[in-house]
Amino acid sequence: MKKEESYCKIAWVMTLKWQIVVFSGFILIFLLAAGCHDSSSSGTAERTALSGQKIFRQYCVNCHGARGNLGLNGAGDLTQSELGLESRIEIIRHGKNTMTAFSTVLSDKEIQKVATYTLELNDSL
Ligand code: HEC
Repeated sequence: MKKEESYCKIAWVMTLKWQIVVFSGFILIFLLAAGCHDSSSSGTAERTALSGQKIFRQYCVNCHGARGNLGLNGAGDLTQSELGLESRIEIIRHGKNTMTAFSTVLSDKEIQKVATYTLELNDSL
C-alpha cells in the first residue's frame, strides 16, 4: 500500500514537470510573437512612410475635420481653398492666426505630403 502511494506521488510530480515545460513553452512563443509585433509597428520605416492622409488625420482633423470642411475655430474650409501648393506649405509650416505652425512637428517632406493631400480634398467632393 505504502509503496503504491509513493509511486503515485512520483507520477504526479512528473506530470507537473511536464506541465511546467509545456506552459513555459507557450509563454516563450507568446513573448516572441509579442516582440515581433512590437518591432514591426514602431519601425522607423513606417513612420517615414506616413501618407498625407495619415498625417492629416493625426494633426489636422481637430480643426479642419476629416474632409477638410469642418471650419472649427475659424479654420479655412480646405475644400473651398484656392491656394496653391506653395502657399499651403507656407501656412502649414508657419501657421496663420489660430492655426498652429507645424515646422517643429512635421518634416519638410511630411508637410509637402499633407499639403498635397489638402489639394486632393478639393477633387474628392
Ligand atoms: C488649431 C486648429 C488648426 C489645426 C490643428 C490646423 N489648422 Fe489649418 N487652419 C486653421 C485656421 C484657423 C485657418 C485659417 C487661418 C486664417 O486664414 O486666418 C487654417 C487655414 C489653413 C489653410 C489655408 C486655407 C486657406 O485657403 O486659407 C491650410 C492649407 C491649412 N489650414 C492646412 C492645415 C493642415 C494641413 C493642417 C495639419 C497639418 C492644419 N491646417 C491644422 C486651424 C487649424
